[in-house]
Amino acid sequence: MPDSHFYITTPIYYVNDQPHIGHAYTTILADVLARYHRLLDVPTWFLTGTDEHGQKVQEAAVRNGLTPIEQCDRTVVRFQDLWKKLEITHDDFIRTTEERHKTMVRKALQELYDRGEIYGADYEGWYCVPCERFFMEKDLAAGGVCPDCKRAVQKLVERNYFFKMSKYQAWLIEHIEQHPEFIQPAHRRQETLGFLRQPLTDLCISRPKSRLAWGIELPFDANYVTYVWFDALMNYVTAVGYGADPATFAKWWPASYHLIGKDILTTHTVYWPTMLKALGVALPRSIFAHGWWLVGRDKMSKSLGNVVNPMAMCEQYGVDAFRYFLMAEMSLGNDASFTEESFINRYNSDLANDLGNLGSRVIKMVHRFLGGTFTAPVAPGTDEAELVKVTAAAIESMQRHLTSMQLERGIADVLAAVREGNRYFDKMAPWTLAKQGKTAELQRVLYSAAECLRIVSGLLYPVMPGKMTELRRALGLAGDEIEPHMATLGAWGGLPAGRTLSDVPPLFPRIEKTELKAEPGTERQTETTAKTAKTTDKNPAVVHELIEIADFAKVSLKTAKILTAEPVPDANKLLKLLVDLGTEKRQIVAGIATFYTPEQLVGKTIVVVANLKPAQLRGVESQGMLLAAKSGKELRLLTLDGDLPPGASIG
Ligand code: ME8
Ligand code: MG
Repeated sequence: MPDSHFYITTPIYYVNDQPHIGHAYTTILADVLARYHRLLDVPTWFLTGTDEHGQKVQEAAVRNGLTPIEQCDRTVVRFQDLWKKLEITHDDFIRTTEERHKTMVRKALQELYDRGEIYGADYEGWYCVPCERFFMEKDLAAGGVCPDCKRAVQKLVERNYFFKMSKYQAWLIEHIEQHPEFIQPAHRRQETLGFLRQPLTDLCISRPKSRLAWGIELPFDANYVTYVWFDALMNYVTAVGYGADPATFAKWWPASYHLIGKDILTTHTVYWPTMLKALGVALPRSIFAHGWWLVGRDKMSKSLGNVVNPMAMCEQYGVDAFRYFLMAEMSLGNDASFTEESFINRYNSDLANDLGNLGSRVIKMVHRFLGGTFTAPVAPGTDEAELVKVTAAAIESMQRHLTSMQLERGIADVLAAVREGNRYFDKMAPWTLAKQGKTAELQRVLYSAAECLRIVSGLLYPVMPGKMTELRRALGLAGDEIEPHMATLGAWGGLPAGRTLSDVPPLFPRIEKTELKAEPGTERQTETTAKTAKTTDKNPAVVHELIEIADFAKVSLKTAKILTAEPVPDANKLLKLLVDLGTEKRQIVAGIATFYTPEQLVGKTIVVVANLKPAQLRGVESQGMLLAAKSGKELRLLTLDGDLPPGASIG
């Protein structure tokens, strides 16, 4: 990396809804890139945040019966909790409702207004009264009706403020043409250049408060708020001290990468550079637009009911596996398809069979044959030539593909080194060497395989920080050796001798596909159900297709009164309940011990699934399942709004 600094940003996400796999993806990608640059010893700054003003947020607030700021405050924690869960290492989190941002947006607007870069003019367009939306003629649906609700619109002339974007058109085209790295990948650059073949209009940067009150008030006209995109884009500079802290600003700006999805290409590659140019601020080095996560072949959408919940994926399969899948599966710049089946296939082949297997074989045999420790580093010989070569190629590939933003190719080459490690191990058969008493050779083989693991675990550390920490610890690394340093990673013989390798539980236990099917009453099923209070036929992370009322009617839900509750020995999450179902008493085992004490439960009337096949949980029979709702770290049992006797049916 030739750069003297690395400043990377994600889009700031709207707080109108909960985060999904798309938001998780961009943020994980930024995190992986930030982590790599830190390991390259490049000073790194990683910014993410939330976009809190504008129509969408205001509408969500109204829908939820909240004030706009309440809507923001409630939703922002969902993003922050998710980033914590996903081990995101952002250096700053900006909310556009913060004073540090609003002050500098106003300052920039005033400056542009004073210099005549912003002017007032009448804006003629079409207004949809029920939608409260303003449209340009070209945006109307066929027949001249509202593109959203398809109802009649009325002509409206409205006074607004405009940024003189059009005057920068020729300059922008030239900049894009002279800086091939400015818009990446190349097909997105072509898309923007295509857009710029049409005459560029000036940008309306105001909204009258009579239509939209939730925004940053214009400093030069209190009847208006700022258009949300002008406000939002400024976050990339206000967060690093623009206008307020020149030293910090000079340190980080210009940004190395604005990572975005392809949906917001025009705002980032046309509005933003012209705004910066007018303000006399340097342009970011690169805007990188990645592709779309589809679910199977479909666009993800609430109405299709196929939105993938990243929190549930992590709870079910682990954070590292989820991060790995997203990074390995999407070829950067193109669309990718998410299905739970492809997730499990990749997990089983790359992580369980290849990486996890190499890790556990090597560590086990060092214990079995060498008493758990290497006495001295062993230099590679001709038998190791291929292993050393493929491992070195993985390092080179990862670094090259980081620079060219083709992370998935770097990862694929690291996995090739893992496979070579397994091949080498099979070929050298250390168990036979041990039998034959060839101690020197045995030492060399186990040490070389461990070296391969040290290097690949270093290369994958930014992608799977948790699991790779475990693996590196197990190899005997400690303290500041856990974090790899890219500059020295490749020096063969880096694994210190004289350390005791620790035993690790399997890093990536195989996922049996049968687990995909709901096996009512299995521990996994019951626990997941208790935690998330939503079952689907396959997968708690993806809410699948809509069901018929008859499907729902198959489930017999009944009220039940808890008579007794006690812990299950050796299962610290489980409680054994005796419940009264009116006509009979049942024993139910539930994974709620970390949320409720037995005392809190006795006497409560709850909701249970009464017609579930009995199952054994840790050897204790469970004759049904209770319902609970979960959000973040909170879990609450479903109870009744008022009193009803046990055994009442629910539906
Ligand atoms: O557009 N696949 O916020 P937003 C991949 N507030 N990435 C996806 C995705 C998918 N299916 N869906 C969303 C906004 N994303 C503005 C941004 S920036 C100054 C203001 C990701 O909440 C992707 O990064 O709609 C996309 O650009 C972003 O979420 C949009 O998030
Ligand atoms: Mg969006």
